[in-house]
Amino acid sequence: MSSLVENYLITQRIDDTKKDVRSISVQVAPYLVQSDATEMYNIVSQSSQDLGGRMLVLNDSGIVQTDSFSAMNGMHRTENEVYDILYGKNSTSYGFHKIPDNSGDGYFWAIYCTASVINNGKTIGVVLYSSSIQNVVQETENLRLQMLWIYLIACVIIFLCSMFMTNIVTKPVQQLTNAAIKISNGDLGSRTHIKGRNELAELGRTFNMMSDRLQNMDKQRSEFVSDASHELKTPLASMKILVESLLYQDHVDEGVYKEFLADINGEIDRLTGLITDLLLLSKMDEESMGLNVERIDLVSLVKKSVNALLPIASMRKITVDLETPDDLVMECDALKVRQALNNLIENAIKYSYDNGYVDVRVKRIGQEAQVTIADKGVGMDTEHLVHIFERFYRVDKARARDTGGTGLGLYIVRRIALLHGGRVEVSSKDGIGSTFTLVLPVNQPKPMLPDRKMGDKQ
Ligand SMILES: Nc1ncnc2c1ncn2[C@@H]1O[C@H](COP(=O)(O)OP(=O)(O)OP(=O)(O)O)[C@@H](O)[C@H]1O
Ligand SMILES: [Mg+2]
Repeated sequence: MSSLVENYLITQRIDDTKKDVRSISVQVAPYLVQSDATEMYNIVSQSSQDLGGRMLVLNDSGIVQTDSFSAMNGMHRTENEVYDILYGKNSTSYGFHKIPDNSGDGYFWAIYCTASVINNGKTIGVVLYSSSIQNVVQETENLRLQMLWIYLIACVIIFLCSMFMTNIVTKPVQQLTNAAIKISNGDLGSRTHIKGRNELAELGRTFNMMSDRLQNMDKQRSEFVSDASHELKTPLASMKILVESLLYQDHVDEGVYKEFLADINGEIDRLTGLITDLLLLSKMDEESMGLNVERIDLVSLVKKSVNALLPIASMRKITVDLETPDDLVMECDALKVRQALNNLIENAIKYSYDNGYVDVRVKRIGQEAQVTIADKGVGMDTEHLVHIFERFYRVDKARARDTGGTGLGLYIVRRIALLHGGRVEVSSKDGIGSTFTLVLPVNQPKPMLPDRKMGDKQ
């Protein structure tokens, strides 16, 4: 940059000087022909005063005819710039010279500029002008120093800024990495603490949300395992008591044997039911959100479900009333919805009194399909309503044992409803009956198409 400035300043100075020297060479030409030293001196001394330098007029042998300082008259000048004119083709020339100053200790830079003195198309002499350009050199030197300072300060500022940016960007990334490593090592409680409103802070918050969810899922899973083990242990424990009491008794009646074996059989049924439900749940976990969606007629699905359960109902003389439209075509995972319907209708029959009534109604309201299952059975207190959809929750454990329940049925129903983007509504009164409504959207959102890979056919 400073060389650019220096070049610019000096080039300008050279151009100006060349112009001046050329014009003076024209002025002195007639006097050089006449060897009129006085006139030539008048011109060069006046001009060198105006221009602030020293001016000589030389003849075609390089001998000084006039010196504006009157010190070199008669001396021979051998500078390149003079020879350029006398022996070269140029009409002007210039060059730079390092000249010792008056004190003899230092030096200064001067520009020498020459122009040919021409008479009748022939070079008859040279005007040599010299002038100090030390001020330009000094100025550019100062500029160079200033630029150096600016450069150093800029470097320091850039360094500080980059340190600052590193703190802003790298630290949070480091925090995120550490938290992610901790989580992958099993420490699910690890969280990031990135403050602010920028993208990294947002990423930190999302990361924390993800960790919360992971921790929650992990907690639920371990609770589930302990609940399930407990539930599996209970029938096994009662079977063990029944078997042991038969084993350690001598001469037991055949009737007692049969009674105990029937109890054991009941416990085996309970275990089987529990394991079936557990397997179903783990299958739903595996499939995660994947629903096998198809277009089906909900009415025929409900009819199938009711028909399958009619034998149980008729054993206790319970009437199942069905009220449906002709059809209700909807999108859902038929197997899962059938499972949910089975659980709800089975509950209604199970918790009805003998000779009771169960009402099953299907209707479409807007974009929702609703299946309402109402019974006039045992019902339950409002306090239980918030819990019945929890795993293994049973209102009356003793009664549930009689009816062979595990408390997983409604939990499964709710999961199936949620998977479809639907819900389960319930209202119940102790001793009066319960109404469960399975609400499902008629249409399922379209699955996102995977991105087309490069090179795939259109
Ligand atoms: N229609 C109903 N009337 C009265 N109580 C009900 C009804 N449906 C469910 N409940 C209560 O809610 C509890 C939870 O029901 P859920 O279906 O989850 O379990 P379950 O019927 O006991 O066992 P299973 O897992 O075999 O279905 C039941 O134990 C019962 O106390
Ligand atoms: Mg049930």
